[in-house]
Amino acid sequence: MGEGEERHVRRKRYRGNHPRTFEEKYKELDPARYGADLEKILARGDTPAGSHRSIMVAEILAVLAPKPGETAIDATLGYGGHAREVLARILPGGRLFGFDRDPVELRKTTERLHSLGYPETAFTPVHANFSDLGAWLPASGIAGADVFIADLGLSSMQIDDPLRGFTFKRKGPLDMRMDPSRGESARDFLATVSEQRLRDILVANADEGRAEEIARAICLRRGRIATTRDLAEAICSVFPELSFKDPEMAKTLRRSFQAIRIEVNGEFAALERLLADLPTCLKPGARAAILSFHSGEDRRVEAALASGLAAGLYSAVSTESARPGREERYGNPRSTAAKLRWAIRA
Ligand SMILES: C[S@@+](CC[C@H](N)C(=O)[O-])C[C@H]1O[C@@H](n2cnc3c(N)ncnc32)[C@H](O)[C@@H]1O
Repeated sequence: MGEGEERHVRRKRYRGNHPRTFEEKYKELDPARYGADLEKILARGDTPAGSHRSIMVAEILAVLAPKPGETAIDATLGYGGHAREVLARILPGGRLFGFDRDPVELRKTTERLHSLGYPETAFTPVHANFSDLGAWLPASGIAGADVFIADLGLSSMQIDDPLRGFTFKRKGPLDMRMDPSRGESARDFLATVSEQRLRDILVANADEGRAEEIARAICLRRGRIATTRDLAEAICSVFPELSFKDPEMAKTLRRSFQAIRIEVNGEFAALERLLADLPTCLKPGARAAILSFHSGEDRRVEAALASGLAAGLYSAVSTESARPGREERYGNPRSTAAKLRWAIRA
């Protein structure tokens, strides 16, 4: 192939008129080439494969009020949607450090942001758990942030890719690690966890009402749960009266997958560490915004901000969480559970 010549890549073959699986959605996975098709997908309220729609962007920007020359930390870079908006407001002179523990998506987002014209001097990716932020800042010689954002949980790219093993909706290896290069996969975790511990995890991480029976069903199949489908079948076996597509079954599957994912990734411990260190990571007057997606997260955020206010570390915190407006919830159903809390460093 000659220099400058574009190689023709055959699109993935699929059955029927429309691509159905993640890998078949070649147009969605190539937004630069198929922008017009993506607009139609967004208008339907869907998230194109391989991307993420940032949540409560206007509300977050109103809280953060980023200004030229400021230092920003995005603890959960994801697709870089919030980061891009902040970057546009802190330049010239500002700098954003984008943390993500997912090396796969971090690489893609870094390429995207650099190709959009944000050089390394403006945007620096950091492959790390946000629980390391408190130690990372002084070690990097950075005084602290003026602007801080954490948008907790998973991105749509992670959820939708069956190879990551996060969703019960698609068959894939039962991995569930945000950082697949570290720690134990969900498959390995379920091969050794005790029934009692699994029950406790289902209750503590997702308030699952039928935790005992689900834990028993999973442990009965110990060593034979290798895929998301195997795990879903084990959970469904507790509810023979419900079909896989029944909304009640879907809710139980979602809760159980969430509980196991939180455990595999040590999500609550990481969040508690971040919240404890946050005041020391902020400059006086800095603004912080945190988006959470379930009660286990929101409870921790609310408690940490309230105790920071009581200790005089924050000058003000949100008294109530803000929720996405009706239009956003309708246009992007994945925003429905979001709760936004904020704090201002004293
Ligand atoms: C909801 S997405 C963020 C989306 C982003 N705000 C945007 O607009 O594109 C959450 C991201 O945070 C990352 N993440 C979750 N927990 C983390 C942790 N403890 N440390 C670092 N990154 C984490 C996930 O890998 C994921 O990419």
